[in-house]
Amino acid sequence: MTTGTSVVEIRDYLPADRAAVEVLVRELQGDMGPYFDRNLTPDALSKSYMDSLFQAHLDKGAILIAESDGKIVGYAMLCHGLEGDADEEPYSYTEVKELLVSQAFRGQGVGEKLLAASEEKAAGAGERWLRIALLAQNEGARALYRRFGFQDHLVIMEKPVEGRD
Ligand SMILES: CC(C)(COP(=O)(O)OP(=O)(O)OC[C@H]1O[C@@H](n2cnc3c(N)ncnc32)[C@H](O)[C@@H]1OP(=O)(O)O)[C@@H](O)C(=O)NCCC(=O)NCCS
Repeated sequence: MTTGTSVVEIRDYLPADRAAVEVLVRELQGDMGPYFDRNLTPDALSKSYMDSLFQAHLDKGAILIAESDGKIVGYAMLCHGLEGDADEEPYSYTEVKELLVSQAFRGQGVGEKLLAASEEKAAGAGERWLRIALLAQNEGARALYRRFGFQDHLVIMEKPVEGRD
């Protein structure tokens, strides 16, 4: 695909990408602020948080990179999982745990391309399901996910406990 004159490619993460992807992890954290006021600020994300985030996805899934003219403009972090309580058949899935396209590159199909590459990873791993969670107020992301073919599966509801400060 092209954005203006640039081609955006999706590829696997390389160790040299770490600093650039960390910048995008912090951008995602900031973007979630309006939807979730219990999030830490981007600058409050610690080195140990970053270390475990990268390690967990490299160990149990994959990190995908969207690159344009040598610049990293988006990423997705995937986790392979196996689920099935005692009352259900076990099933395997790939969950997209983080997805971000940097501001200047949004609305040009990069997010959809990262989702398509995530689905290819799931297919390559022999998994039947692709999963993604989002904050309920993130209507923009929800519209993209629905268009991509996702349907609601689990809805988590909450309310503040009355009588607490
Ligand atoms: C959600 C996100 C990854 C989509 O990436 P993208 O490259 O912009 O997506 P695409 O160009 O493939 O698709 C664009 C579609 O996404 C939807 N969309 C995403 N964010 C939107 C927003 N803020 N406002 C309106 N529509 C939005 C629309 O359906 C849009 O389609 P349209 O252009 O025809 O209206 C990107 O907007 C982003 O990084 N947002 C901030 C972080 C975020 O919300 N991540 C998801 C966490 S679950």
